[in-house]
Amino acid sequence: MATITHDLVLLGPPGAGKGTQARWVVEALGIPQISTGDMLRAARQAGTPLGRQADVYMSAGRLVPDEVVVGLVSERLREADCARGFLLDGFPRTIPQAEALDAELARHGRKLRTVVALEVDDETLVRRLSGRRTCAACNRIWHLEFDPPPAVDACTCGGTLQQRDDDKEATIRNRLRVYHEQTAPLLAYYERQGVLRRVDGSGTADEVRRRVAEAVGGR
Ligand code: AP5
Repeated sequence: MATITHDLVLLGPPGAGKGTQARWVVEALGIPQISTGDMLRAARQAGTPLGRQADVYMSAGRLVPDEVVVGLVSERLREADCARGFLLDGFPRTIPQAEALDAELARHGRKLRTVVALEVDDETLVRRLSGRRTCAACNRIWHLEFDPPPAVDACTCGGTLQQRDDDKEATIRNRLRVYHEQTAPLLAYYERQGVLRRVDGSGTADEVRRRVAEAVGGR
């Protein structure tokens, strides 16, 4: 990559490939991946009060209330490993979340440098999400058709593969509706700030990777 940009957001609809692309970006730049979806799922699994509250929204494919997610991310951004930068995956998802993020960064004299928006059509997203399987042990993301695991229920690390409970078709459709209504307005928000890089998220994961590398390194 020509230039290393440290404070990054990966934006895109459910199934656009945010988690898949985030994995190599954070390795390449040596920054932490902050995935609100992963943080909420961990809280849900641990049965914390936050996890129980989030469960109601996540199971229905709705957004967890802004104040809950903003609190979670603001706290995480103050940790030492974010000093050199971070990659936000799945946050912000609403205009109030984006404004809260700007305010939090401004308090520390920082500003978002690049927002990469992955663009993929809805029917491709449904196909990607329906076939997704995630390893319960190492979190590796697989796809039964596009990136097949060694066995239907086993990862290369030996862990068991699981299907997310919000990856059922009716819930996927609801998540897409929520994306178009509440998250898509962020594209104009970041366009106005001059930090938006739109990336075609169709094609193979490697093809998308090359486009993301260009978008991240091109500033
Ligand atoms: P979250 O976990 O953030 O889910 P999401 O945004 O819906 O995104 P996904 O993780 O489903 O998709 P992805 O873009 O990461 O795709 P992936 O790389 O896995 O959020 C879940 C829930 O938590 C929300 O619904 C909400 O309730 C709550 N939440 C989270 N953040 C919140 C916030 N900020 N505010 C409020 N609520 C919040 O890829 C998908 C599949 O496709 C995989 O199988 C992969 O192998 C395959 N694939 C990827 N790229 C390609 C490619 N190029 N070609 C073929 N297959 C591909």
